Amino acid sequence: MAFDIDMIKKVYATMAERVDKARELTGKPLTLSEKILYSHLWDGNPTKAFTRGKDYVDFAPDRIACQDATAQMALLQFMQAGKPKVAVPTTVHCDHLIQAKQGAAKDLKRANETSNEVFDFLGSVSNKYGIGFWKPGAGIIHQVVLENYAFPGGMMIGTDSHTVNAGGLGMVAIGVGGADAVDVMAGMAWELKFPKLIGVKLTGSLNGWTSAKDVILKVAGILTVKGGTGAIIEYFGEGAKNLSCTGKGTICNMGAEVGATTSTFGYDDSMERYLRSTDRADVADAANEVREYLTGDDEVYANPAQYFDEVIEINLDELRPHLNGPFTPDLATPVGELGVKAKENGWPIKVDWGLIGSCTNSSYEDLTRAASIAKQAVDKKIKSKADFGINPGSEQIRYTAERDGILKIFEDLDATVFTNACGPCIGQWDRSDLKGEEKNTIVHSFNRNFSKRADGNPNTHAFVGSPEMVAAIAISGRLDFNPMTDTLINEDGEEVKLDEPRGIELPPEGFAVEDAGYVEPLVDGTGVNVSVSPESERLQLLTPFEPIGSEIKGAKLLIKAFGKCTTDHISMAGPWLRFRGHLDNISNNMLIGAVNAFGKKTNFVKNQLTGEYGGVPDVARDYKAKGVYSVVVGDHNYGEGSSREHAAMEPRHLGVAAVIVKSFARIHETNLKKQGMLGLTFANENDYDLIQEDDTFNFLDLNEFAPDKPLTVEVVHADGSKDVIKLNHTYNDSQIAWYNEGSALNLIKKQNAS
Ligand code: F3S
Repeated sequence: MAFDIDMIKKVYATMAERVDKARELTGKPLTLSEKILYSHLWDGNPTKAFTRGKDYVDFAPDRIACQDATAQMALLQFMQAGKPKVAVPTTVHCDHLIQAKQGAAKDLKRANETSNEVFDFLGSVSNKYGIGFWKPGAGIIHQVVLENYAFPGGMMIGTDSHTVNAGGLGMVAIGVGGADAVDVMAGMAWELKFPKLIGVKLTGSLNGWTSAKDVILKVAGILTVKGGTGAIIEYFGEGAKNLSCTGKGTICNMGAEVGATTSTFGYDDSMERYLRSTDRADVADAANEVREYLTGDDEVYANPAQYFDEVIEINLDELRPHLNGPFTPDLATPVGELGVKAKENGWPIKVDWGLIGSCTNSSYEDLTRAASIAKQAVDKKIKSKADFGINPGSEQIRYTAERDGILKIFEDLDATVFTNACGPCIGQWDRSDLKGEEKNTIVHSFNRNFSKRADGNPNTHAFVGSPEMVAAIAISGRLDFNPMTDTLINEDGEEVKLDEPRGIELPPEGFAVEDAGYVEPLVDGTGVNVSVSPESERLQLLTPFEPIGSEIKGAKLLIKAFGKCTTDHISMAGPWLRFRGHLDNISNNMLIGAVNAFGKKTNFVKNQLTGEYGGVPDVARDYKAKGVYSVVVGDHNYGEGSSREHAAMEPRHLGVAAVIVKSFARIHETNLKKQGMLGLTFANENDYDLIQEDDTFNFLDLNEFAPDKPLTVEVVHADGSKDVIKLNHTYNDSQIAWYNEGSALNLIKKQNAS
């Protein structure tokens, strides 16, 4: 499917030299993660050793993948860059906007009706700019990437947090915000803090009911949802080699649930088998030639404590199957111990749904293992107590599973096969068995189980497990069922036991597909017209931001945010998702979740021009309409959370000239800079307390804006008194150029034109 073997060979051609140089510079053997990082430096050959967890480094990723919800704003921005084509191979995948309800055919038809303008837009932009386009129904981004594009030793970024799934094929693959993806599409470097490294040594091999999913469920229990933050998790050891490639993908996928930057495994025979089975023998051949560079050095794995920042060891022989949840993926409980825990906590024992699939667990091995349980239920005359839903990860997997009779087994158990898309994993699930917000339990083989995640009901208790365990629990209809010890009563009143699951790693007859759902872009897309209706409420073409300039006088305080102000407070998700491609409409959520320091209410601020109180976006719009800039003031770590660029674009769109805070979350600070506005910090953080509700801001020396030189602002209070305060900033010369041009994209466009 148009994977780029020449690009892969190019990466491998320079790998040895770069890795050897990095080994020399660091003076030590290297982990796989370091080999991939050092061989993808923006400047080519390494010239210095980086400090983990400290140095910011420019990288040159090999690929980009975007999903439909995040691609909209990313591509709208890319269109501003004035480039004829994306600078690195890029794909767009339509998977998030398809609701699961009645089954694949009807659901896909409905999605194509309700979101057709978004799909058409993504399709035509892809065609114009040389981006591979995967149509609705083609599959879930990460499964499609694993099947077609991931390669050992590569580096990719994707506008989805589970991009990390590609670590299963030995990549360093990282989820980013749209703004980062746009930079790389436009030919710029991608910056990342050089990650710390967590080593996970796996010994033994999986057996019985235990699966690859249980490895990460166990790791999540150990590290918790924050334990991997800022780190790459690298798996190694005999146990790692004993896992299938797709099993490795599952483990890497859920690294996102411990906050890890990404996870990865060294190249081995399982990866080679997977590459050959997915029609990429040439990638396997190329990888075999640089095999030693596609895994960590022997010395590293022999003495991991010396080379990793943290080491965890798991013996797969002893690992037990787990179910994690509810409401958080790190609450790990071995199967068999859930009954007591559920009783203590009041979790409903009765299980209403079992959901199998998603980007996490829809490999051939997963489906065959789960089907081996489902088949026993049919053969042993056990009627499933819970409903079943299946979300195949791709059309290739679905088609192959249908051909091999696997889907038929689930259908015999009355399962509903949903579209090859995210569906219930992202709340796109119209669940008809609940009338309101009844307390209930579901089990699924997805990755996330936060409150409301699957069906919008805060009282749905979702537990995460392997597909085969989900199948067994759903069949029994009980959360406290332990298939390893317990029996079930069949339709003839007999006591029967489920045997251990049996899976097949790869389809013996190979993968097959009739229409994978891929659309190759035109070689020359200059003639393609991208049309967006001016009446659309979902999409809006962007107009370049005007530079704010060096004269900011009379700017009004819009809101002084009190306490925590994350990107969710600045640009809420949930129902606002549908406006991700329409800057003006989504701006109606700007800062509506932030608590105003005056009055301690949300979305309730004073309009200094009218004296009346109103919602933050409304007041901002009024200032903007009257030609008055506004200023947002915030507390510590302002903008933490996701890398969502909307949180910077919305204030820019509504006329906010400066965001002044005690401290920033770094990604948000950079996003503000990219949008050509001022992100500043109080030189004296107590000056936050000086800011009053009716304050006006006059910037006194913005015409001397320069790196390392604080800015001075005069704050005029309602009674006419003034405070002159110093504001620090971290703009370098090129970021000041972004500000002067109105945005980073304006600058790129100007550079292209000259
Ligand atoms: Fe989709 Fe859920 Fe994966 S939303 S990309 S299936 S995590």
